[in-house]
Amino acid sequence: MGADATTEPTESLHGLRPALTSFVGRAGAVDAVAGLLGKYRLVTVTGPGGMGKTRLADEVARQVAERFADGVWGVELATIAEPGSVPAAAATVLGLRQAPGMSVMEALGAHLARQQLLLILDNCEHVLEAAAQFCATVLLSADDVRILATSREPLGLPGEARYRLPPLALPERGSPGDAVASEAVALFVDRARQLDPHFTLDDESSAVVARLVARLDGLPLAIELAAAAGQRPARRGRPAAIA
Ligand SMILES: Nc1ncnc2c1ncn2[C@@H]1O[C@H](COP(=O)(O)OP(=O)(O)OP(=O)(O)O)[C@@H](O)[C@H]1O
Ligand SMILES: [Mg+2]
Repeated sequence: MGADATTEPTESLHGLRPALTSFVGRAGAVDAVAGLLGKYRLVTVTGPGGMGKTRLADEVARQVAERFADGVWGVELATIAEPGSVPAAAATVLGLRQAPGMSVMEALGAHLARQQLLLILDNCEHVLEAAAQFCATVLLSADDVRILATSREPLGLPGEARYRLPPLALPERGSPGDAVASEAVALFVDRARQLDPHFTLDDESSAVVARLVARLDGLPLAIELAAAAGQRPARRGRPAAIA
C-alpha cells in the first residue's frame, strides 16, 4: 500500500542528511535501483569509495518514498564503532526503546513486522557480516520491509539484488564542445561554480576538463576535489590546478 498521495515525499524520509550540493546525472542508475527495489526486498549498491553510492541511495529514497506507507529510514553505519551496534543504530533511527526482557533485535523484529517501510543501510562495508546478519533477520521477520544497502562489497545474502554503480559518464572523445553534456564534466562545472559563480568553460578549457575527468576515471569524489583545487586561486574559465 502506498502513502497518501498528498504526502510530501520529504515528510516520509527519516534519518537522511539533507543534500547540501546539487545531484548531477545518474537518471539511469536511479531508475535502475528504484526498479530493482520494486522486485527485490534487498538491493545492494556496490562500488569503490567515492563512486557516489550514498548519494545515489539518497536520490532513490526520494524517488520511491511514496511506495512505502511508513516511510524511508536511513541508518548510517559508517560511524558505528562495533559490528554488534548495527541493530542499535537502526533502533535509534526508528526511535525504539528497548523493552524489558527483549534484545534490541527482538524489539526491532516486533516493530518492523507491523511496518511497511524501506530501510537504507549506508556504508555497510566495515561491518559487512553484522550488516548481512541484520538484513537476514529483518527480511525473515518483517514481510513488508525492504532494504537498500550501500557497500563497497556485496552482503552476500541469497536473494540480494546487486547494482554495481558505474563511474559518471565521460565526454565523447573528439567532441570537446559537447563535453559539458557529460555527467563527469557537468559535476566539475557545478562544483567549480559553487566556488566561483563566474566560472565558465570555453572550447579550450572544455578540452582540458574533459581530459581531467577522464584521468580521474569519472569518480565523483575525485572530480569534486579537483574542482575545488582548481579554484584555488581562481582563474576564470581555467581551473588553476589543470591549466
Ligand atoms: N551524482 C552525483 N551528483 C553530485 N554529487 C555526487 C554525485 N555522486 C557523488 N557525488 C558526490 O561525490 C562525493 C562521494 O559520493 P558518496 O559519498 O556518495 O560516495 P560513496 O560511494 O558512498 O563513497 P564511500 O564508499 O566512501 O562511502 C560526495 O561528496 C557526493 O556528494
Ligand atoms: Mg558512502
